[in-house]
Amino acid sequence: MNLRRAALVPILPLMALVMGRGGAAPASAPVAPDTSRLFAPAWEYPRGSIAPVRSTAGMVVTTDRIASEVGAEILRRGGNAVDAAVATHFALAVVNPEAGNIGGGGFMVVRMADGTTAALDFREMAPGRATRDMFLDAAGNVTNRSTEGHLAAGVPGSVAGMWEAHKRFGRLPWAELVAPAANLADGIVVHQRLAQSFYNNRKELVKNAETARIFTRRGEPLRVGDRLVQTDLAETLRRVARNGRDGFYTGRTAELVEAEMRRGGGLITREDMGRYKALWRDPVRFRYRGHEVISMPPPSSGGATMAAMLKILEGYDLRRMRFMGPDHAHLFAEAARRAYADRNAYLADPDFVPQPTARMISDAYAATRRATIRRDRATASAQVAPGLGAPPTEGTETTHYSIMDQRGNAVAVTTTINSLYGNLVTVPGAGFLLNNEMDDFTSKPGVPNQFGLVQGAANAIAPGKRMLSAMTPTIVLDPSGRVKLVTGTPGGSTIITSIVQQVSNVVDFGMDVATATSAPRLHHQHLPDSLRFERRGLDAATVSRLRGMGHAMAERQGFQGDVQSIVVTNGAMTAVADPRRGGAAVGVAEVARPVVQ
Ligand code: GLY
Repeated sequence: MNLRRAALVPILPLMALVMGRGGAAPASAPVAPDTSRLFAPAWEYPRGSIAPVRSTAGMVVTTDRIASEVGAEILRRGGNAVDAAVATHFALAVVNPEAGNIGGGGFMVVRMADGTTAALDFREMAPGRATRDMFLDAAGNVTNRSTEGHLAAGVPGSVAGMWEAHKRFGRLPWAELVAPAANLADGIVVHQRLAQSFYNNRKELVKNAETARIFTRRGEPLRVGDRLVQTDLAETLRRVARNGRDGFYTGRTAELVEAEMRRGGGLITREDMGRYKALWRDPVRFRYRGHEVISMPPPSSGGATMAAMLKILEGYDLRRMRFMGPDHAHLFAEAARRAYADRNAYLADPDFVPQPTARMISDAYAATRRATIRRDRATASAQVAPGLGAPPTEGTETTHYSIMDQRGNAVAVTTTINSLYGNLVTVPGAGFLLNNEMDDFTSKPGVPNQFGLVQGAANAIAPGKRMLSAMTPTIVLDPSGRVKLVTGTPGGSTIITSIVQQVSNVVDFGMDVATATSAPRLHHQHLPDSLRFERRGLDAATVSRLRGMGHAMAERQGFQGDVQSIVVTNGAMTAVADPRRGGAAVGVAEVARPVVQ
């Protein structure tokens, strides 16, 4: 089959949609109570400022409209949510190179309509020659080699992840799912979000000759209307389309990775590539106020830390508190402080370090943690030790998409190359950027990583080990067992707190998807001991009251996520892309409607 031709047909109407319709499809009527008066008066996204997309026949919401359209087209062709996820994943590798790259890895949470749940770990892995102290200099200080350059890269997991997911759940032929991305790599017109990303990262993009060759024109970032041509990436994707997993982990692609590693002093070998496996894990499952929450277990800390926070918060009647008022914000910070203290000390790759996940998410443990919280006073993080016994002594940027099909199968995927544009190194001849995920390991216990996370020895580097993540792809079922929410976000260490708030906004405050997603967010991660809040997200009186309670308040812009959610309301899927950065939700039934002029 000529894959180029086969996939071109659906891409043409897809482009027409992208160009012709521009914005989101018509909104459904939100059914949640009016919470707008509860947002701070100067907050950037008052209720009603963004409109959800509504569909009963399938939904794809990602950080990029083209990728969402690719996924929706797969649903229209009869693919299920996992097929759509595979096609979307590869499309994001082309149109969202800063984050959705095949040189990285991630996590998938699946809930099929027949009740099957699954969690897929395609996290990067430390190369066989990695050593615990590889990022320390002779004096024992942490260097920047964990974030920039060849040593920063872990063995990529994305292609193996998609292959494994497709093998277990897919319906359409693999090649048909990879082909749209290969065609997009032949050339796309740079749109606003991409141009903005190139511009914001223009200094980083010229640090590596191959990266600069692709994403800049003689050192100047590509602009809106320019063509982004990724010929080598297109060839890599066609090898993957033809040969599946082997098209990436063996043969030419693996050779190109090894050659670049040799040239730049990196560690990944063809043997490391060949050894890589995506792994099925048991999802973290817990109940929150009658709902079942399904999320990612270690090596992501996301599910367990979210559960620990929500279990503490379940002991308080949040509905009776003013949303983002002092009581709500205080309890949120105290729950986060305690859950992150445990996260940072204990969580790691379960194949290397025994994990206390079951205890950490139990009601009994939540009660002991809750008992240490004062309602009128912040607890200093220095007074909050990890609570599950002695921690082991040895052992953003990301993207997310949420998909549901007409049958009710749901998929949440968070994937990353860590920093924007990863380690900045594009593999010559293969056309993809490599990750800098090695920075998510503990380079040195007690020394913060790029997200300010102060982590312990459990997460120390070891050959073949997977670095601890915060990615939290999550599916929530309503009390009668139907999918209520499919969600996730990028944002490094803030991923978990963003998703806790998304779940709580929907479950506790009854918000519709648009209000829940546009609500202001908070973050606390134990250390540094500060309560971060989005600029103008809290009113002045609340900030002052929280300060009086002992919280170190830190107002910040642009730190808190890019949440992509689907909420099922009265049998219909409603979705929005986070207005903070500007992705797109595409509902399958929307194409049947007249084009909105
Ligand atoms: N690289 C960010 C994370 O996995 O949490």
